[in-house]
Amino acid sequence: MKKKFYITTPIYYPSAKLHIGHAYCTTLSDIFARSKRERGYECYFLTGADEHGLKIEKNAQQAGVSPQEFVDNIVKGFYSLWDLLHISNDDFIRTTQERHTKVVQDIFSKMLAQGDIYLGHYEGWYCKDCEAFWTDTQVGKDHICPDCNRPVSKAQEEAYFFKTNKYLPNLLKFYDENPNFLTPVSRKNEMINTFIKPGLEDLCVSRTSFTWGIPVKENPKHVVYVWLDALTNYITALGYGSDNEEKFRKFWEDPDTEIIHILGADITRFHAIYWPMFLDALNLRKPDREFVHGLLMMKDAKMSKSKGNVVDPYPLVERYGVDAVRYYLAREITFGSDGSFSPVQFVERINNDLANSYGNLLNRTLGMMNKYFDGVIPSYKGQVTSFDGALETCIETTITSYEKAMDDLKITEAISYVNDLVNRANKYIDETMPWVLAKDETKKEELASVMNHLANAIYVASILYRPVLVTASEKALEQLGVTTENRNYNKLHNLKLLDNVKINKAEALFPRLDPTVEVEFINSLMGNH
Ligand code: MSP
Repeated sequence: MKKKFYITTPIYYPSAKLHIGHAYCTTLSDIFARSKRERGYECYFLTGADEHGLKIEKNAQQAGVSPQEFVDNIVKGFYSLWDLLHISNDDFIRTTQERHTKVVQDIFSKMLAQGDIYLGHYEGWYCKDCEAFWTDTQVGKDHICPDCNRPVSKAQEEAYFFKTNKYLPNLLKFYDENPNFLTPVSRKNEMINTFIKPGLEDLCVSRTSFTWGIPVKENPKHVVYVWLDALTNYITALGYGSDNEEKFRKFWEDPDTEIIHILGADITRFHAIYWPMFLDALNLRKPDREFVHGLLMMKDAKMSKSKGNVVDPYPLVERYGVDAVRYYLAREITFGSDGSFSPVQFVERINNDLANSYGNLLNRTLGMMNKYFDGVIPSYKGQVTSFDGALETCIETTITSYEKAMDDLKITEAISYVNDLVNRANKYIDETMPWVLAKDETKKEELASVMNHLANAIYVASILYRPVLVTASEKALEQLGVTTENRNYNKLHNLKLLDNVKINKAEALFPRLDPTVEVEFINSLMGNH
């Protein structure tokens, strides 16, 4: 296991407000980053905005402002959305920042000088929305963009090209030698069968039909085409090519850093084919992993601004809290598969997993501790009741399975192990029946052991939930009387940690939601977009 992590999200287009699909990708990346930090790894987490391109130029024009003003305004919304969702990114890169633009120009010059980029003419099928050229085979007889299904049109212009075929053998070798590079594995086959086998075209890396981009120094009527500009954010953010490359050395060049890009299925091609080639051309190491998550659908269609079926995360967080939204995104949709946003399941998840299971476990336990032990957690005395051993084993196996799943980016699975522990602890209450033990003076030791074991189970569940339930798990730990210092992953295995701790006032973590009212509320939000 490497000691440091560099984890990135795609940089989002500030062409309009972000929706819950974008929030999904960033939240899951955040959960992963937090879980690594929690376990003591050094983690650098990057997100940002991809600010150039025709679409933004057009949207700005329509809004009657300059492209820079336009993106400044939208990016403000990105910052506040990430604040609202408690995203713990260490940096936010904007491709209009000088730290990026200058280096992109240098990268372009270097590639040009090396003969990786050449000037030619492009004629192809161009999708304005995706800002991508496609081949005849890809657009089919209906001339439809294979990514967004909108009509494409023939376009021709002078353009610079990146020689993909020069780097293709290296790429295929890299795929073979690094079977974990692209996951889920089905994505690698998709790359090979859909894009590589039919014949990979050279990639157009400049445009002359719009001006909102980074000018090519050698030929300023060209601006750098958006994917060469966009993908390099992952290294310019670390200071690559600048006067201070310290972060770059630490989080990119150091072999002890694991580099992980998280991205949506719609942009796999750019990350899995061209990005490794660009890195090859720059003689730089490639990322260790690219994890492709599925898309969040709405009513069986991809959620997108242009289809008008987007869910705005703001009102959801405002009404249900940040933890509920983060939890739903991480737990309901298996990370790596497509999923659909469903108001009914949203409410069910919160009620079942958070209010009825986790919240209720805490509440019941604190109530019993107040009633039977004056609000003090009894000390650990080993396995006193015949059920204690099983709960202890469950705690240990939960930690192990959770870590293994998280390391493999199986975030949904990792969380479900914590749920299992919570359910097991609730069952332990039914098995040990503390209210019966309390009636018998000779059972005092057993009752004390039950309370201690429950406190430990809640403690472990809360620490493991913490990367997801960023506020509620802290509240639970507070109510349980755990000091800030003791809210520490390294102390998970210490069964005596909570001995004689005085608990605090119990308060419900998650109010139970009325399904009829709430489903109607969420539906009304969706109708408004
Ligand atoms: N700017 C490019 C990415 C450049 S990365 C070097 C881009 N931006 S985007 O804003 O259109 O989308 C970025 C990412 O948002 C997608 O790849 C995906 O990760 C995420 N999602 C956008 N819509 C989504 C869903 N409906 N569901 C899940 N994720 C979604 O592409």
